[in-house]
Amino acid sequence: MPRYEIHGHAIVSEDDCIAEPDGAMPPALRNDADWRRFQHELDKAALQVVGRFSHETFPNRAGRRRMVVSSQVDGVELRNDVWWWNPGEASLGEALKKAAPDGGLIAVPGGRRVNDLFLSLGFDAFHLARHAGVRIPGGIPVFSRAWAAGSAERLLASHGLHPTPPVILDPEASVSVTVWVR
Ligand SMILES: NC(=O)c1ccc[n+]([C@@H]2O[C@H](COP(=O)([O-])OP(=O)(O)OC[C@H]3O[C@@H](n4cnc5c(N)ncnc54)[C@H](OP(=O)(O)O)[C@@H]3O)[C@@H](O)[C@H]2O)c1
Repeated sequence: MPRYEIHGHAIVSEDDCIAEPDGAMPPALRNDADWRRFQHELDKAALQVVGRFSHETFPNRAGRRRMVVSSQVDGVELRNDVWWWNPGEASLGEALKKAAPDGGLIAVPGGRRVNDLFLSLGFDAFHLARHAGVRIPGGIPVFSRAWAAGSAERLLASHGLHPTPPVILDPEASVSVTVWVR
């Protein structure tokens, strides 16, 4: 039986957003130190799981194994080296058995609806990077219920995750990351 460890990843603004209202990621939210760390984490993963918009926004240039979540596919399908998964038609276990049969680290960069899905299925860890000083009014929150919960951190805590000590990635830009673990 393969074993999986599921890690979510996001960089969020001070107001818990991952993108502008139209889905674009504002340059102010991006950070080189966070990007390098994120790429390193993706390199360690057996599979990355992204929503269809994220797949279209960030083409898989590094050629990593990727699974795209979409309601527009039948169950689990392989198309041009990319796995596609419809959670309404196949379980996560079925999808992972096909896309990552040997088990391993599963990296989940989101976006929002994918984060919601895995929050209910259960993250083993969530790498929450925060860019202090950047606000995205009306933007897309990292989780649909982040604001209702008070913050992304409170929502993660309410799902049984605990913070490890934060790491400052870029002191000048006020970017830090906290890994929340089960
Ligand atoms: N700051 C960050 O760390 C970060 C991380 C990731 C993304 N982003 C940004 O956020 C932007 C938008 O993200 P988003 O949250 O709007 O979109 P997203 O999650 O990347 O994609 C949404 C689409 O994924 C599919 N999907 C997601 N969850 C599903 C579910 N449970 N069941 C069936 N289908 C599901 C649907 O595709 P169908 O319409 O095909 O059914 C849905 O329209 C991205 O374009 C990117 O720029 C930022």
